[in-house]
Amino acid sequence: MNYSDLVAVRMEHAVTRVTKTVFPGRTNHHNTLFGGEALAWMDEAAFIAATRFCRKPLVTVSSDRVDFKEAIPAGTIIELVAKIEHVGRTSIRVQVDIFVENMYNDDQHKAISGTFTFVALGPDRKPTPVLGDMTV
Ligand SMILES: CC(C)(COP(=O)(O)OP(=O)(O)OC[C@H]1O[C@@H](n2cnc3c(N)ncnc32)[C@H](O)[C@@H]1OP(=O)(O)O)[C@@H](O)C(=O)NCCC(=O)NCCS
Repeated sequence: MNYSDLVAVRMEHAVTRVTKTVFPGRTNHHNTLFGGEALAWMDEAAFIAATRFCRKPLVTVSSDRVDFKEAIPAGTIIELVAKIEHVGRTSIRVQVDIFVENMYNDDQHKAISGTFTFVALGPDRKPTPVLGDMTV
């Protein structure tokens, strides 16, 4: 298998979906999902996707941009979907979307999206090629 096929297979394998409820304790004084909670969930989903992609130790190096298009009300269900967007030499960029749905309607739609970049570290704690010697 050549490198681009390997990347495509690993990208498919890495797709990560996490479903949660927006219950009290996760909301702000507007009774909508607290932005910091959303960011932590997004970083975690992105980290899982990136780890599944390369199976190497990773650190977050940046979050380019997060768009909060819509407030997420308390009492809704959300689904985070993390997908590998770009594979560099030692870094991986992951797109994360949060979809919101009312508990009593089939109306799931996107509310928040952002990207997170991770760097793979070798045993010396220095950046190392993301796929290195990996084969499938
Ligand atoms: C991540 C870290 C090891 C990178 O070290 P560095 O010396 O900047 O590494 P390099 O310059 O060789 O860059 C390594 C890769 O990261 C990318 N990168 C570096 N800074 C970046 C940034 N701000 N945004 C996006 N990508 C970045 C580079 O483009 C390169 O990618 P490539 O190999 O795919 O082309 C270092 O910055 C670090 O340890 N940061 C702290 C990480 C951390 O504690 N995160 C929070 C907890 S997980």
